[in-house]
Amino acid sequence: MSIAGMREEYETKGLNESDLAADPFTQFHIWFDQAVTAGLPQPNAMALATAAADGRPSARMVLLKGLDENSFVFFTNYESRKAGELAANPWAALVFFWVEFHRQVRVEGHVALTTARESDDYFASRRGGVASERGYPRPRGAGGEGAAAGGRVRRARCSTPALLGRLSPDAHRD
Ligand SMILES: Cc1cc2nc3c(=O)[nH]c(=O)nc-3n(C[C@H](O)[C@H](O)[C@H](O)COP(=O)(O)O)c2cc1C
Repeated sequence: MSIAGMREEYETKGLNESDLAADPFTQFHIWFDQAVTAGLPQPNAMALATAAADGRPSARMVLLKGLDENSFVFFTNYESRKAGELAANPWAALVFFWVEFHRQVRVEGHVALTTARESDDYFASRRGGVASERGYPRPRGAGGEGAAAGGRVRRARCSTPALLGRLSPDAHRD
């Protein structure tokens, strides 16, 4: 089949503003819970778009790690391109796509990056001090991976300092 011929017919009902919660964050919680309850694969996967200081955009998938104080929390590492871009330009966008529900959620706002210490505290408070949770696998050949067996493997991947990003949505945007 040609690419041009690929098309999904979405037969779900449209979206009525009157059916939505007044607070977009409340609505997000409702939809996110639905995606989790339905067992959708990786419901917390989201595209994160950033832009360099000169305005050039880039996007990649990351995982939502929490919903704190009306912000969307993700984590990554200091050496990443996204971290560098966010340090220079905090404006960013997220897109969740739950294809089974024919539903996408778009979020735009600014990202505050934490210090490594804050990241550690965050994960310690959430995971009972499992520091390895903040590690993110480094690319193959970057060193550190596979150095030990079992639980220590995740820890071995942790040599790149992790940081949290918190995207706070714009109050309103038309
Ligand atoms: C489903 C999925 C989830 C991912 N989650 C994360 C994540 O939570 N944090 C992260 O840094 N990278 C994550 N990645 C890898 C990023 O997409 C990206 O390749 C990497 O972070 C480097 O991006 P950058 O060079 O633009 O900073 C994920 C990739 C996929 C496919």
